[in-house]
Amino acid sequence: MENFTFYSPTEFVFGKDTEKEVGELLLKSGAKKVFLHYGGGSIKKTGLYDRVTASLKEKGIDFVELGGAKPNPVDSLVYEGIELCRNESCDFVLAVGAGSAIDSAKAIAAGVKYDGDFWDFFDQKATIEDALPVGVVLTLPAAGSEGSVATVITKEDEGLKRGLGSDLLRPRFSIINPELTYTLPPWQTAAGVVDMISHILERYISKSEDVILTDRLCEATLISIMEAARKVTNDPENYEARATICWAGTIAHNGILGVGRREEWTTHGLEHELSALYDMTHGAGLAVLFPAYMEYTLDEDVERYYRLATQAFGVPENHYDKKSVALEGIKRLKDFFREIGMPVTMHEANAKEEDIPKLLETLEKNQGRKFGSFKKLNLKDARKIYEMACA
Ligand code: NZQ
Ligand code: ZN
Repeated sequence: MENFTFYSPTEFVFGKDTEKEVGELLLKSGAKKVFLHYGGGSIKKTGLYDRVTASLKEKGIDFVELGGAKPNPVDSLVYEGIELCRNESCDFVLAVGAGSAIDSAKAIAAGVKYDGDFWDFFDQKATIEDALPVGVVLTLPAAGSEGSVATVITKEDEGLKRGLGSDLLRPRFSIINPELTYTLPPWQTAAGVVDMISHILERYISKSEDVILTDRLCEATLISIMEAARKVTNDPENYEARATICWAGTIAHNGILGVGRREEWTTHGLEHELSALYDMTHGAGLAVLFPAYMEYTLDEDVERYYRLATQAFGVPENHYDKKSVALEGIKRLKDFFREIGMPVTMHEANAKEEDIPKLLETLEKNQGRKFGSFKKLNLKDARKIYEMACA
C-alpha cells in the first residue's frame, strides 16, 4: 500500500426532502449572499428551484442567480459568473444541479478570488490559493463533483476540455436526495452509471500492490452499482436502487476508493477529447473507450484484470487460463454498458474514425506525448485505443 492523505471535509446530507435543509446549511456555513448557479432549467421544471429558493428566503439569505451551465460546461459562462458574483459581492457559491453546473460553480468560486484570467489555473500558469466556499444540491449521480476536488471546463474557441483539482474546491456541503433523480432521462442515468464505474476503474487498474481493503471496497461498489442500475432501468422510482447509485457515485470519486494506490486517469484523458470535439455526454464517451483501454492494457497485468473479472463481474475462476477469464470480464462490462443503453463503439456514439488525428492533436496539447502509469503510453498507443474503439 502506498502512503496516502485522505481529506474529505464535505458534509454530506443524504435522503428524502434534504434539499429543504439548504438554507440552514448555508447559515451554518456563514453565507450572507449566495451566488446560485444551475444548468439548463431542469431544476425549474421539477420544482427543485422553488424549494431551494424558499429555503433560502425562509432563513433570510439573499441570493443572485445565474443559470445556463450546459453539459460540458464552457469558459464563457464562467467569465460571466465571476463578474456577476464579484459585482454582487457574493460570499458563497451554491450549485443546484449536476456535474456541469457544479464544475462551472467551482471554477467561478476560484476565479472570483483571482486577479488574473481563471483559465490560468487550467493552463497550469497559476494555482488556486483561495476560493469562495461551494455548496451543492445534487440532481444527477455521475461526475462525483459533489465530493471531488475537480472541475472540468471547456475553452470553446480552442476546443480544449481540461480538468483541475484543488482541495479548496471540495464542497463544504452536498445535499443528495435520491428522489431528485427520478426525473432523469434513462440516457443520463446510464451515462452517470458508466462515469462512476469508470472513476472506480481509473483507481482499481493500477500497479500498486497490497491494497486489499481498497480493492474489496471497489469491487463491492462496482457490484452494487450494476445491480442497482439494472433495477432502475425497469423501475425508475425504486428509492433504494436510486439511493445506492447516488451514494456510489459520490464515493466513487471522493478519493476513498483510491487510497493506497497510484491512480490512472488515462481513459478520462482520452474521453475528454471526444466530449470536446463532439460535445458528447462524458459517460457515453467512457462506455466507448474503457473496454478498448482495458483490452489494450490487459497484458500489462493479467492478474489484475483476472481479479476484477472474478470478484466484480462474476466470471468463474479458472487458474489455468487467466487471460480468457480476464477477457470475459472486459466483455461482460461492455455488454453491461450496451444493456443499459450506452454506445460501445465510436460509430454508435457518432464519432468518426477519420477524426482520430484531431483527437490526438488536442490530446497532445492536454497530456503531452507520454502518459499513463499502469502502462506507459504514447500517442501511437492512444491512436490504437481509439481505433480499437471504432470496431
Ligand atoms: O442542465 P439541466 O437542465 O439541469 O439538465 C441536465 C443536463 O441536460 C440534466 N439533468 C440533471 N439532473 C436532472 C436532469 N434532468 C432531469 N432531471 C434531473 N434530476 O442532465 C444533463 C446532464 O447534466 P451534466 O451536468 O452535464 O451531467 P454530469 O453530472 O454527468 O456532468 C458531466 C460533466 O462533469 C464532468 C464531465 O467531463 C462533464 O463535463 N466531470 C467532472 C468531474 C469532477 N468535477 O470531478 C469528474 C468527471 O470525471 C467528469 O469529467
Ligand atoms: Zn468521469
